[in-house]
Amino acid sequence: MDKPIIAPSVLSADFADMAAGLAEINNSGAEWVHLDVMDAKFVPNLTFGPKMVADIRPHSKLIFDAHLMTYEPENLAELFAEAGADYITFHIEATVHSHRLIQKIHSLGKKAGISIVPSTPVSYIEELLPFADLVLVMTVNPGYGGQQMIPQCLDKAERLVKLREERNYSYLVSVDGGLNAETAHLAHKAGVDVIVAGAAFFGAPDKAAMVKKLKGA
Ligand code: DX5
Ligand code: ZN
Repeated sequence: MDKPIIAPSVLSADFADMAAGLAEINNSGAEWVHLDVMDAKFVPNLTFGPKMVADIRPHSKLIFDAHLMTYEPENLAELFAEAGADYITFHIEATVHSHRLIQKIHSLGKKAGISIVPSTPVSYIEELLPFADLVLVMTVNPGYGGQQMIPQCLDKAERLVKLREERNYSYLVSVDGGLNAETAHLAHKAGVDVIVAGAAFFGAPDKAAMVKKLKGA
């Protein structure tokens, strides 16, 4: 199996110097940039909006995954598409008309990701799987970086990988929260495609070495 894609989260970067954070990601061997958007309603924290994404877009050629931890993500999809996100990932718990939102994201020429919090079962998104480009399995309760992983959530990632094989779906499976050099092997075992890492990446003195560890190289 291929090594997973690594998506460092700028949540753990220095917000006063995002360009430097982006440069560290660009030079690390990571392939994606993970953008944690929080609204202080869906999650108990507030981060940044589309202007931040538009401003940092010229600083990286990597794939941008906007992880919208916001209610009514349908009202934000267009703004993040215009800002230069490649994947627009929303929470199934935060909207009613998820299928319509996937259609909207696709009509904007972007990839659509669905995310589930630890208490949401895979069965809840089963009908949407044929339409998804990415499924982001939260392995912590969203809202903060640097939390401890809830390892049971990896079972859902593994199920999603198996379901894709059985049913010939094409989404990528991503895990987000508490991934570090010690826990990455659980993600490898589950067969995930994308590993998000915030605290582990930005806390590492040698970013390239951390990316290798997260990849299991
Ligand atoms: C949590 C965010 C994560 C977070 C991961 O709400 O969705 O992307 O940045 O951070 P770490 O890797 O520090 O757990
Ligand atoms: Zn995230």
